[in-house]
Amino acid sequence: MSRSLALVAGAALAAAVVHASGSEAPALKSLKPAGLRLGVALSQKQSDGEDKAALGLALRHFDQVSPENLLKWERVHPEPERYEFGPADRYVELGRSRGLFVVGHVLVWHQQTPAWVFAGEGGQPIDRATALARLKSHIDAVVGRYRGRIGGWDVVNEALEEDGTLRKTPWRTAIGDDYIARAFALAHAADPTAELYYNDYNLWKPAKRAGALRIVAQLKAQGLRVDGIGEQAHWGIDDPPLAAIDETLAAIRASGTRALITELDMDVLPRDPDMWGADLAKKQKIKAATNVYPQGLPDDVQQRLARRYADVFALFLKHDVGRVTFWGVTDADTWLDDFPIPGRVNHPLLWDRDGREKPAFAAVAEALRQGARR
Ligand code: G3I
Repeated sequence: MSRSLALVAGAALAAAVVHASGSEAPALKSLKPAGLRLGVALSQKQSDGEDKAALGLALRHFDQVSPENLLKWERVHPEPERYEFGPADRYVELGRSRGLFVVGHVLVWHQQTPAWVFAGEGGQPIDRATALARLKSHIDAVVGRYRGRIGGWDVVNEALEEDGTLRKTPWRTAIGDDYIARAFALAHAADPTAELYYNDYNLWKPAKRAGALRIVAQLKAQGLRVDGIGEQAHWGIDDPPLAAIDETLAAIRASGTRALITELDMDVLPRDPDMWGADLAKKQKIKAATNVYPQGLPDDVQQRLARRYADVFALFLKHDVGRVTFWGVTDADTWLDDFPIPGRVNHPLLWDRDGREKPAFAAVAEALRQGARR
């Protein structure tokens, strides 16, 4: 029996014992090694307390929270002179009052940033000085407001192309390559106590991983604070290969910066190489062919998902990652229902649409137990 199969079998047994005794499953956070933060991204409905069931699960099982959308620029700073801090204030207060480590997401990203941020005078392209001034006032206002209360910030998100070169974002066009260093310096000035992270996806690809390591090495060479490299980990049930994840976590650790898993979920639906760039008609076709579990996840796939979670958690624990954050609480509110193909039914998380534990929950619980024993 492989290690992962043994984990799943052990976990299934543990779950059976728990259910037979009628008691609740153990809180995941009570099982993990002390050095690991275990978290989840909350939707605004959850942090506002409207989705009480999902919030209850989040508070019971995790010791860290991330905001799925409510601290993004378009939400918190929709117009030049207008900030909307209400939802973010409630999110931060919720996390602090429960003793959770509160993460801020995200300061600099090319998505979910309003068009005015990149607009120059009279329809002209924005100049460097104006772009830097906007960046500074945003970071001063947002990071400054939660100084000492938000424990760590995703400072720059997705600055890399797949080949590891810098992405041509509006920030880079307006400011130049040093926009990344400027953002880290501004965030540190606004809250010297906050941890600061570089965050991206597909860092399991060697070229992109090299790009992230290069960015962080350059920041550190300038004396800037960087506490972690976040791999988002929007992964599939079969890919990326475990060996690639293993190599990336080892390389980040060897670089001397903590690896973080910041947005974990596992897409269980079949993938089509064209699904990301397809037009609407093509997406409809792909939807028909790939929306294969609309009524729920069959048992055999539940077991495969559980094994996959056991396998990746074994790697997280092997490489001593600093944090693992799930991107959503239950399958009922996963962004993967609408991306990259709108209107499908995905099943990527530890709880199903009704908030019931899936076999993947028991597999993660068992992996954490084993990791804590090592
Ligand atoms: O709130 C509106 C709702 O009023 C409206 O009816 C509905 C119609 O489309 O849209 C709702 O807003 C959506 C929002 O999620 C809240 O559900 C937006 O359209 C949708 O674009 C937005 O997607 C978010 C996405 O970032 C935007 O790029 C996802 O929730 C969020 O999970 C996702 O998170 C990102 C991370 O920030 C960075 N890493 C990748 C990750 C996945 O894309």
